Amino acid sequence: MKVTKAVIPAAGLGTRMLPISKSVPKEMLPIVDKPAIQYLVEEAVASGITDILIVTGRNKEAIENHFDHSLEYYERLEKSGKTKQLEELKAIADMANISFIRQKEARGLGHAVLCAKTFVGNDPFAVLYGDDIIFSNTPVTKQLIDVYNKFTLPVVGVKKVTEEQIVKYCSLKVDSIEDNVYRVWDMIEKPTPDKVFSLLSILGRVLLIPEIFPILEKTAPGAGGEIQLTDAMCALGKRYGMLACEFEGTRYDLGSKLGFLLANLDIGLEHPETMAELRKYIKAAAARF
Ligand code: UTP
Repeated sequence: MKVTKAVIPAAGLGTRMLPISKSVPKEMLPIVDKPAIQYLVEEAVASGITDILIVTGRNKEAIENHFDHSLEYYERLEKSGKTKQLEELKAIADMANISFIRQKEARGLGHAVLCAKTFVGNDPFAVLYGDDIIFSNTPVTKQLIDVYNKFTLPVVGVKKVTEEQIVKYCSLKVDSIEDNVYRVWDMIEKPTPDKVFSLLSILGRVLLIPEIFPILEKTAPGAGGEIQLTDAMCALGKRYGMLACEFEGTRYDLGSKLGFLLANLDIGLEHPETMAELRKYIKAAAARF
């Protein structure tokens, strides 16, 4: 079955990015001049997704506004003959069929995905974590869809992390199937060093089947008192089978201060309006250390 639906959970409180996240959704933080969530929508669309549900919460209205038409700007740009900018702005609202649902309380990523139950219906669907930006040659969602199309099993996007990182992430027990595809046998969230299965961890993208919903409905709050998507995915994998795709791409965690800065630095170094000055600045700054 063709994968045409995606869910972007963007209702988290973003406590690691306080105080900015108190009034600005972390998913709206800019990478140079484009909010993080626009990159996610663009990735989904480039992967063949036509319908996107964004899960929002209180104080997240800026996300809805960003994907709406903006008549004042259209008028201003039209009058000043800035046709290219005008077309770019209009395209944001027309990229995909985007709808929104509110998670009334931030009860965890698993709970946010559960809010998408009606939207998903009986279809397979991609989940793009709202604060994980991944730049790659082939869009990561497309990389996961290709694996799903070949094996018709749920697929989690994984990367190798360091031994220091794995204890803060989730660790997967896997067997290799081909090149970058693994069979997942088990997973553990935030393992103590003696419980680590492997350094492969789920990062930012998963492709799920609707059978996840009855599992999520029964998933009790786990780590941090939140309904953890990992717990439900672990159960899903054991019941229906699950694959992991070690994706190609560079990932930035926009929910962390360092991830936000690195994304801006890397994109700023390639942006035609900033690259030259930024390179000069970095060279001069490096000489100071
Ligand atoms: P995170 O765990 O990174 O988000 O969830 P968080 O809880 O906002 O982060 P901190 O730890 O407080 O800084 C990954 C994605 O899932 C969304 C977040 O908005 C983020 O995009 N999320 C998380 C929800 O939509 N609802 C939730 O209840 C939790």
